Amino acid sequence: MQKIITNFTTYIILMNKLLYIAAPAVFMLASCAGGPQELSSPSGNIKLNFRLTDAGQPEYSVTFDGEEIVCPSTMGFELVNGENIAQGFKVDKVTRTSSDSYWVPVWGENDSIRDNYNAMTVAMTDKSGVKMDIEFRVFDDGAAFRYIFPEQATKTIEIKEELSEFAMGGDYTAWWIPGDYDTQEYEYNRSKLSEIRSFSEASKIENVAQTGFSPTGVQTSLMLKTPSGKYLNLHEAALVDYPAMHLNLNDTTMVFTSWLTPGRGEAKAVVNTPFKTPWRVIMASEKATGILATDIIYNLNEPNALEDVSWIHPTKYMGVWWEMITGKTSWSYTDAHDFDLATFDYSKAKPNGTHGATTENVKRYIDFAAENGFDELLIEGWNVGWEDWFGKEKDYVFDFVTPYPDFDIEELNNYAHSKGIKLMMHHETSGSIPNYEKHMDAAYDLMNKYGYDAVKSGYVGHILPKGETHYSQWTNNHYLNAIKKAAEKKIMVNAHEAVRPTGLARTYPNLVGNESAMGTEYRNMKPSHEAILPFTRLKGGPMDFTPGIFTMDLSEFVPGSKERKLATVANQLALYVTMYSPLQMAADLPENYAKKMDAFKFIKDVPVDWSKTIYIDAEPAEYIIAARKAKGGDSWWVGGIADEKGKDYDLKLDFLDPDRVYTATIYADAPDAHYLTNPEAYVITTTEVRKGDTIPLRMAPGGGVAISIE
Ligand code: NOJ
Ligand code: CA
Repeated sequence: MQKIITNFTTYIILMNKLLYIAAPAVFMLASCAGGPQELSSPSGNIKLNFRLTDAGQPEYSVTFDGEEIVCPSTMGFELVNGENIAQGFKVDKVTRTSSDSYWVPVWGENDSIRDNYNAMTVAMTDKSGVKMDIEFRVFDDGAAFRYIFPEQATKTIEIKEELSEFAMGGDYTAWWIPGDYDTQEYEYNRSKLSEIRSFSEASKIENVAQTGFSPTGVQTSLMLKTPSGKYLNLHEAALVDYPAMHLNLNDTTMVFTSWLTPGRGEAKAVVNTPFKTPWRVIMASEKATGILATDIIYNLNEPNALEDVSWIHPTKYMGVWWEMITGKTSWSYTDAHDFDLATFDYSKAKPNGTHGATTENVKRYIDFAAENGFDELLIEGWNVGWEDWFGKEKDYVFDFVTPYPDFDIEELNNYAHSKGIKLMMHHETSGSIPNYEKHMDAAYDLMNKYGYDAVKSGYVGHILPKGETHYSQWTNNHYLNAIKKAAEKKIMVNAHEAVRPTGLARTYPNLVGNESAMGTEYRNMKPSHEAILPFTRLKGGPMDFTPGIFTMDLSEFVPGSKERKLATVANQLALYVTMYSPLQMAADLPENYAKKMDAFKFIKDVPVDWSKTIYIDAEPAEYIIAARKAKGGDSWWVGGIADEKGKDYDLKLDFLDPDRVYTATIYADAPDAHYLTNPEAYVITTTEVRKGDTIPLRMAPGGGVAISIE
C-alpha cells in the first residue's frame, strides 16, 4: 500500500512542503538497563514511563501535557498451565531508536503519511528463563506497546489471558459498546466509566449474558474524554494470529484489563516463538479532531506486502441490496421448500416472484449505475442456498458458484462490461467457515473467469466449527487468509461481520472495506451514531457504511411498515465526506435517485480518493465537519453531519488556494428540515468563493451539509 520514502529528492520536497526539518531517520542509544525508563514523544508532549515492580512485573504509565492519562499499569500473561509470564522479570537490555519517515498509501485520506516516533525495547528474562521483550513507541498523538517473544527454547506458549492493564487517570467519559465475542453491531452508549455497569444491566445487553462476559466489558476502539477535556482512544493495531482484545473495567479502581476473545480451546491464544502480539494503543489529543486525524494505527502496521497493487482501485458502487434489506424483494428464489438443499436441485422449485437478483432487474441497475458513472454493482441473492441459511449451524449452505436459474451470470457480466462497469461478487458464508474454505478457490476462480474484481463477504450467524467466535484467534486467521488468497487472485475484499479492523489494510491494501459496526442495514439508528463511528470503528480502517438513502419513509417498500431512515437527505450526502472509505456505496434504489437527480449529482461527483484531509471541527457523537481535497485534482469537498440536536457552524474557507475563484455548490438542509418530521427537504445553492470567505452552515436535527468547491 505504500513505500517508505527513501528517495532523497522526494524526501526533501516533502520536507519543504511541510516546512519541517526531519531528525536523522533512525539512531540507536544504549541505556542503563536496571532502573526506570522514560520515553518521550518527538515533541515531548507525551511521556511513557517503564519500570519493574518490586515483584519484577513490567509496569508502564503515560502522561500527556503533564497530566497522567494512564496511571501505573502492569503487564504480562496468565498461561493455561497455571504459570504466569508476568512476575520475576529482570531487564537484560534496553534499546532506544527514533524514526521519522513518510509512506504513500495506495488509497486513503491523504497522499502521504508521516510516521514519527521514539521507541524503546526492553528485553527481559523471567524467573523460569522465558525471554520476553516489550517494545514501546511514543508519537505526538499517542503511545503503544507490544510483547515480543524472541526465538528461544520455549517453542509454544498457551495463553489463558493477557494481563495488560490500562489504569485510567479518572472517571472519564466513554463512548462504548459492550464486550461481545461475535458482534459490534450496537449503537454506542455515552456514560462515565463508573456508569458502564448500570447502563449494561439496565439495557440487559443480551450478548453479555450469552457469552458470560463481564457487564463492565467493552470493545475497542474505545473513545474517552478526560475531565480536563483531553480526548483519548484505546485500540489495537496489527491484529495477526491472535484473538481480538476487549477491555474489562474494574469500576472501583478505573483499571481496564485486556480480555481476549475465546475460541474452542482452553487457551485463548496459542503462540509459537518467535512471536509479536498486536500493538496496544493509547491515542491522545487536545482536540477531538486530533483523534479523527491520527494515523497511529496504520503507522503501527507493517508496510504493504503486495508487490503489484495496480489492480486495487477506489470504488463507487450501487447494489441490488437495499430492496432486500427493506423487504421489497428477497434474496431467495423460492419460498417453497420443495427442493433438495443437499444437491441444490432447483428444477422443481417454484419461483416466489419476489426474487431481487433476476437478470432483468440487475440489467435495470446496470443501466442506471453505468449512466451515472459508477464503477461497480453489487448483487446479493445471486447464488443458490438462500432458502435455508440464516442461523443454520450446518456445514453446507452455499457453494458460492451456482447461480439461481433466473440469474444469467455470463450475460450479466458481459452486459456490465460492455457498459464500462463491473459486477461485485457477494459471498455470504453464514459463519460456516469450513464450508467457505472448502469452496473458496473455486469461488475466487469463478470471479476471475467472469471478471469480478471485488467481493463482499459476510459472516452472519454462529461461527462454525462450534465453539469458535467471530473474534477468536482461529477465526481471525481465517479472515486474513481469505484476504491474502484474494490478493493472489487480484480480488479486493469487503468483509462484513468480520473482526473489527486494526489497520491491516496498510499491509494488505486489497482489504478495501469492512463492516464490523452498525451500518445502514439497521434502518433506525440515531443520527449521532454516524458522528461516533469515525472516532471509533473507523480508526482501524474504512467502513462499508452504505450511505446515500434518499427515501426515508420505508413503508414505500413494505406497505404498513413504520420504518423510517432517521436522517435528512443532506446528511446522507455529507457522509461521503465525513465517513472516509475507498469503497462507497450509493445504497438507495435507482427509482428513488431518479426523483432527486439534483441531489444525486453530489453522489455522482464526489471523489472516493483524497490527497489531503482536514478535520475542521468535531465532537464525538455530536457533529463532524471535514474538508478533503480530491486526489489528482484541485477541488475540495466538505461534509458536515449533526446529531439529533442539529448544529450551526461558520465554515472558514482558509484551506483554499489563494488568488483563485471557486464555485461552491452547497447541498443543505431546508430551513424546516428535520430527520423525524421533514427529512427529504433540501436546498441546493451555488456561489463564488475565495480563500478566507466564510460559509454559514446550518445543519438540521439529524441533518448535515455537503459542499463541492471546484
Ligand atoms: C449482513 C450484511 O451486513 C448485509 O449487508 C447483507 O446484505 C446480509 N448480511 C446478507 O448477507
Ligand atoms: Ca452486518
